[in-house]
Order: sequence, then C-alpha cells, then structure tokens
Amino acid sequence: MSAAADDFAKRYSLKLADPSLLITQGLVAGRWRSAPEDSKFPVYEPASGTVLLECANFTRNEIIEAIQSAETGQKQYFKSTTAKERGALLRIWHDLIQANKEDLAGILSLENGKTLEEAKGEVAYAASFVAWFSEEATRSYGDVIPSSYRHTTVMTFKEPVGVCGIITPWNFPAAMITRKIAPALAAGCSVVIKPPSETPFSALALAELAMRAGIPSTVIHVVPTKDRSAASELATNPIVKKLSFTGSTGVGKYLAGLASQTMKKVSMELGGNAPFIVFEDADLDLAALGAMQCKFRSTGQTCVCANRIFIHRDVVDTFAEKLKERVQQLKLGLGIATGVTQGPLVNLAAVKKIESHVEDALKLGGELVCGGKRPTGLGEGYFYEPTIVKNATPDMIVSRDETFGPLAAIFPFSDEDDVVEQANETEFGLASYFYSKDVHRCMRVARALESGMVGVNVGMMSAAETPFGGVKESGYGREGSKYGLDEYQTIKAVTLGPGQ
Ligand code: SIN
Repeated sequence: MSAAADDFAKRYSLKLADPSLLITQGLVAGRWRSAPEDSKFPVYEPASGTVLLECANFTRNEIIEAIQSAETGQKQYFKSTTAKERGALLRIWHDLIQANKEDLAGILSLENGKTLEEAKGEVAYAASFVAWFSEEATRSYGDVIPSSYRHTTVMTFKEPVGVCGIITPWNFPAAMITRKIAPALAAGCSVVIKPPSETPFSALALAELAMRAGIPSTVIHVVPTKDRSAASELATNPIVKKLSFTGSTGVGKYLAGLASQTMKKVSMELGGNAPFIVFEDADLDLAALGAMQCKFRSTGQTCVCANRIFIHRDVVDTFAEKLKERVQQLKLGLGIATGVTQGPLVNLAAVKKIESHVEDALKLGGELVCGGKRPTGLGEGYFYEPTIVKNATPDMIVSRDETFGPLAAIFPFSDEDDVVEQANETEFGLASYFYSKDVHRCMRVARALESGMVGVNVGMMSAAETPFGGVKESGYGREGSKYGLDEYQTIKAVTLGPGQ
C-alpha cells in the first residue's frame, strides 16, 4: 500500500480495494512524475478543514512539456486508430471506472466533501459520459452535398481538432473530467488536463484507469498545479487548438480572451443564477422534491442549482412548509460517514459567502424559515445549515449573485408574465426550472425562459444524452449529447471535380 493510501486508511477507515488509485503525482509526457524539487500543495478535507493529502505542484514548464507530448501523441493516436477502436478503448475505460466505483467514490467524497451516496452517483454519472461517447465515436458522420458546379461532389469530413486544454472545477471532480475528455478521445484528440487544486485526486485516478484501458499515455496528461500561469498557458499556447473550461464567468471571460489570440475553438460552461418557478396549479409535493434535488444537491454547489425560488403567493406558505420538512431531515457530517446526507462546503470562503447572503436577506426583510447559521458540534469543518428564507426581494444580493451553497431563497410572485420577466432579469442563462400542470403554460414558459436548459416538473435534468450548456454570460458550447462530439471536431469540406 502506498504511504498516502495507508495514511488515508488510518485516518478515515477508508480502505481502498486498490490503493494504487490514490495518486499524488502528475501524468506528464507519458509517465507518472513528481513535480520539480518535489514541490507540493496541500489538499484540504472540507469536513474537518485539515490537510487530506499533498499533491504534486507542477509549473508552467511541465504544462508546456505535456502540450508538446500531446501534440505528438495526438497525431499517432488518430493515425493508428479507427473510430470503432477508439470507441472500444472508451468502453474498456468505462468498465474499469464501474469496477472501481467504490474506491473512486471514497476518494471523491473525501476530497470534495460530498456524501458517499452522492459521490457514487457522480462516479456513475462520470462513467455514463464515457459509455455515451464510446458509442458516439462511431457515429461521426460527414455529408455528401449536392454541388452547384457540374460534375462535382462536395463532401465533409469530421476531423479531430487536435490538442485540447481542459480546465475542470472542484464541484464535480470526476464527471467534469469525463464529460470533456470522453468526447475528445472519441474524436481522436489528445488532452492536457489542469485539474482543480481543491480536488485533484479523482482526475488522477481516472487517468490511471484510462491508461489501464489502453489509452496511450501521450494522449492523456494530468498536470496538477496551483500556478495560475499554467491555466494561461493552456489558453495561449498555439499548439493547443481547443480550450474547454468549466468555472466562473469572470475566469471564463479572461481565458476566452486569451484563447482568442490564437483563435482556439472554445467551450465555456460558466456561472448560473437559476430560477425555479412554482405556479399555483403545480403539484406542490413534486415541486418540493424537485427543489430539494435542485437546491441541495452537492450542498448547493452546482452551476445548475436553483438560486431564486419563485413561488406563487397562493401557495408560498404551503410550499415553504413542505420544503422545510424535507430540509430538516438532512444530516450534516463527514461525507463517508454512515447516515450523513449533506456534506460541507468546499472551503471557508464558501461558508462566508452564504453567511453574507443570509445576513443581507434578513436585513432587507427576509423571513428565516430554518437554518441560517453554522452548525455546532461539527468542529472546524466548512459546514452551514441548510437554510430557507422567505419573502426574498430583487434588491437582495441572492437575487443577483449565485450563492453556490445551501440557501433556498423564496421570492413570492403573482403573475406569469411578471415572473418570467424576473426569471430572465439576469446576465446568466444556464438552467431554469418550473412546475405547472397546464400543458399550454408549460410550452409557453419553456419557450420564454432564457436559458440553455429548462426543467419542466423536474428538479434534475443532467444526463449524458442531454445537451448541457448555457446562453448569455453562462457561456457557449454544449457538453454530453449528440452535440458534445462536435466541440472536439472540425469540419473539412472536400470538393471533388470535375467528373465526366
Ligand atoms: C456543474 O455544476 O458544473 C455541473 C452540474 C451537472 O452536470 O449537473
């Protein structure tokens, strides 16, 4: 057993079936390596605020080395594999992820804080993208187009874009890796991943499994680093032809600006401020369940979490009571502990942010339904009680700024047109949700909401087959689905003529 895995097992009674999956090095240019001068950064365990493990801290130089290796690796990989063979490699990788799901979930839960059940769900979600793109690999059709010139044929070939720079967030340490790199590998690209410094270990374990599946080590690189210039290198280096980023809108704009210097293909999955609307004709039990899933999943730390919960005045009190009943059943604690249903936030800054949103809402007339403070008896962990505030108004910070934490802010409304206008009154447009039993209203409102994804009578819509992505300042590009492969391909038009 590696020293890291041994320490892990002692401290958390988490015995990995395969301790070699707990990797603290980086995968650079074909091999696992320590960083120069054995430089490391600490990774914290959010439930206690203590150091979980240290991870290799690479520099911009190794990012450059990885990019160069990925360039050679990509050419060789694409030349030597058919789409069917790439699909088969992905299927083996998928099966290995499934076979190691308990270990992957344990690592993920400890580094991120989410509960073991949620972590298992995320590993299954991560695997589903690999399965999906193992199948999409073979369905990358071009066209034959009627030409306007005589005796001439126009065809299109889909080609891999080349080396892809991948920058992923800490809130889905496994799924955001596979959602980006499975389509890249299916298309015949190579990748250089900068995993989040809060949660690097899931990415490293997944890369190890990818290599065991037979994906060449020069096609997949994982370079953990705290150095911001490393991310910039992925956005500026001319060898990198595609940049895919999930994170805040501010950082996304910065990176997209850098990437424009070399005209990279770019996908940006950025912040949201999701409205969740419950009309007076809705099934309130279903809506309360949906609000639970959509607001408190991953302790409120998803880009698609409801941020503004608009409830019709006629049903607002009933809905708030129903949501409170569910919220009060949540049990906070260490994610891997039995019975825990809600983990901590990722760090202290996240706790301070939700604190400031709650304080502001209460100062401006909000009514506390439950929660509203850090819990006692849970030590130094980054916990905050799941909280509901009623009578929220547009002048509150929560109306404009994504809390990214377990605060359900309930805004009463009276009129359909007005609530749709309020819902759209944001620069973001990632996800929206609403509940109604009226099919005409369902179609009308689904069309009127300005977001990339709309959930109608559901609180969870993320799935491998569903296009994931936003409009407005929530970014561009789509992940998953039949569109996800296009993000890693270019179209070459071949005009063949003149025939006889
Ligand atoms: C995210 O928060 O970025 C991803 C959420 C999801 O895939 O459902």
